[in-house]
Amino acid sequence: MTTARRQTAPRVKRVLAPTDFSPGAESALQWGTSVSAAFDAELVMLNVLDLSLAGVAGLPTGFAAMPAAAELIGRLRAETKTEIAKIAARYPKATTLVREGIPRTGILDVAREVGADLIVMGTHGRTGLAHIFFGSVAEYVVRHSRIPVLTVRQEEG
Ligand SMILES: Nc1ncnc2c1ncn2[C@@H]1O[C@H](COP(=O)(O)OP(=O)(O)O)[C@@H](O)[C@H]1O
Ligand SMILES: [Mg+2]
Repeated sequence: MTTARRQTAPRVKRVLAPTDFSPGAESALQWGTSVSAAFDAELVMLNVLDLSLAGVAGLPTGFAAMPAAAELIGRLRAETKTEIAKIAARYPKATTLVREGIPRTGILDVAREVGADLIVMGTHGRTGLAHIFFGSVAEYVVRHSRIPVLTVRQEEG
């Protein structure tokens, strides 16, 4: 059996590290930083802000006292801006991006748009159901991505 070979060796020029700002994503951001440095690649950190009803319903309980929808959306946008600014400050070599939409497809869309060669993401996120092998966003991206995906488990403790 012959093995198909690529014409040229793969190169990593741009790494996409998506984050939901959870501890589960943090190790992935660190791996993204190390891997992009090793390849001398550009690093893009992305948050996809899910303003759909399902996304908003999955929020932690602090949000249970629902203000009017417009106010809630304004608050979420402001909070996202604050969180991504913290990421930008902690990872000064990375470019940071926020996109509004559905996280799993948003990550794949941005990967294509920025020309990423590799995605580095957590196995778990904000929902943090540790007994589930893979979070749903991670699973979808691994299943559908056309570029390699490095999944990183959160460090213990
Ligand atoms: N809204 C999001 N924007 C960007 N990246 C995300 C988002 N949600 C999840 N991710 C990425 O996917 C990883 C796994 O999260 P997810 O599959 O949602 O697990 P969980 O079900 O535990 O929340 C996160 O560590 C992060 O890298
Ligand atoms: Mg999640």
